[in-house]
Amino acid sequence: MMTILGLLFFQHLFLSLSLSLSSFLFFCARPRCISITMLQKHLTSESAVRLHEERRGRKPNTDMQLSSLAYSSRYATQDVPKFEIPENSAEPQVAYQLIHDELELDGRPAMNCASFVHTWMEPQADKLIMENIAKNLSDQDEYPSTMRIQERCISIIGNLWHAQEAIGTATVGSSEALMLGGLALKKMWQNQRKAQGKDASKPNIIFGNNAQVALEKFARYFDVEERLIPVTADSHHVLDVEKAVEACDENTIGIFIILGSTYTGHFEDVKRLSQLLDEHEKKTGHSINIHVDAASGGFVAPFAFPGLEWDFRLPRVVSINASGHKFGLSYAGVGWVLWRSSDFLPKELIFELHYLGGTQYSFNLNFSRPACFMISQYYNLIRLGREGYTRIVENDLSNARLLSEALEESGIFDLVSDMHRADGVFGWQNKRSTKDMAKEKGKKSGMTNYNPSLPVVSFKLTDEFKEKHKHVKQSAISTLLRTNGWIVPNYALPPNEDKIEILRVVVRESLSRDMVHRLVDDILQTTDLLTRVDSEMQTSEYAPLEYISEANKRPRTDNDHAKDEHKDVKKPRTYARTC
Ligand SMILES: Cc1ncc(COP(=O)(O)O)c(C=O)c1O
Repeated sequence: MMTILGLLFFQHLFLSLSLSLSSFLFFCARPRCISITMLQKHLTSESAVRLHEERRGRKPNTDMQLSSLAYSSRYATQDVPKFEIPENSAEPQVAYQLIHDELELDGRPAMNCASFVHTWMEPQADKLIMENIAKNLSDQDEYPSTMRIQERCISIIGNLWHAQEAIGTATVGSSEALMLGGLALKKMWQNQRKAQGKDASKPNIIFGNNAQVALEKFARYFDVEERLIPVTADSHHVLDVEKAVEACDENTIGIFIILGSTYTGHFEDVKRLSQLLDEHEKKTGHSINIHVDAASGGFVAPFAFPGLEWDFRLPRVVSINASGHKFGLSYAGVGWVLWRSSDFLPKELIFELHYLGGTQYSFNLNFSRPACFMISQYYNLIRLGREGYTRIVENDLSNARLLSEALEESGIFDLVSDMHRADGVFGWQNKRSTKDMAKEKGKKSGMTNYNPSLPVVSFKLTDEFKEKHKHVKQSAISTLLRTNGWIVPNYALPPNEDKIEILRVVVRESLSRDMVHRLVDDILQTTDLLTRVDSEMQTSEYAPLEYISEANKRPRTDNDHAKDEHKDVKKPRTYARTC
């Protein structure tokens, strides 16, 4: 009896986790569309509940006495204001507690392995942030010391990126920063075309279809044709620089190249691109510049791979952006864009403002923005120094390698990221042990050099596993890990390679060695649970029809998995999901 009940329980669990996962994904996809609706009307499940209450004749009670104790206030049993501003005030501790409690339902930032954004700072940095939280970075005259700190950060970062006379600005993040970089490329190209008496109405920009959505936003918002280069296994899932140069013509304003792909952490080859563009210029006379989107890599490469040439050492690199809030180790709200010199920042983009009693120069998309996170970046730069940043990023990489090797050695997963493989060794299809290859290379050079990359671990179930456990869906691993608090997303590689789904972990400093051990255990235990349920279902007389049907005896391929997972989801051309 217990076995039958047990099986029924597992059948229920398994069915709800995997068989109905397509409908789950469908619902997961919905909020993105809803958010567009929300621009017009705040329509959510909450408003549906309110409509239901109103239909049942229940009126919101507003006349109960407010209490200064959160849980004896009227909001303990009444709906909190969601649609209209309340007539009466609430006690601060009541308002605080209500919002605090609701936010407890969020995931925990430290266990959010989906995000590159930093989630921890030292108490002294927190203190500086709180002391300066009221300062607006746009008030240049009012906060001259804050402005001096911004200038120092630009000099320090420019130095890290080997600039001689860099000019730049703090932004709210890499999205704003790379749009400014793209706008400068566009203006430079337009000015040149106009000076030559040529048509300047059809600009295009080139990047890989692994690009983060911000790059596509630039193209769409600023009327530049995007020429997307499909990624392939041969290009290690990132921009194929040869194809990028083939796509150039006289209307190309520049190439966006990514130092640290969002999908797999691979660095795109800036140096090779630069060489190819030199050859292209010799052949065609078109000189095409590069903007490096180093959102994550801008604070990884200078410390972990100082010999790698990707920055202003290469003359074609005219601008670079990075997120201070990723491996710059500040909280969300600070990014950087630097040009190699003022020659590459067209004057039209610089606004001279006579405002609030002084003259200010601005080249930002946003006017008002917080100063405190920029200040926290300066704290990190002087507190950590080169020594501290190097130690942290090497620790991240070392933990990411350990995670990669543990998953690979389990025999259950293929590693799509290559950060744990010896320099120049790519691909999970290569069945020789990664460690052996690293050792062989190490013997030759005296040390082991790994592929330059972000500390990102992307992995997928092996084909052998999928054949053996036809009904285990990779996305169920991601869903089940959530019950242990881990946020590990599962999603498809960019179009062209979208048959392959990856689970992805960004290893940030808060994912210490001990946490990596726990994560490996949880991933393996979760997969084991799904495997056992699958095996039991295959032999159970209570198994659903799907288990016994002949159709499912055929080995499942990556293609089948991709089809199941995305039945209702429209395929995007790139990282950007469309509603
Ligand atoms: C490669 C890349 N570019 C741009 C961005 C956008 O950066 P931000 O979130 O700082 O605007 C990201 C964010 O993950 C990214 O990974």
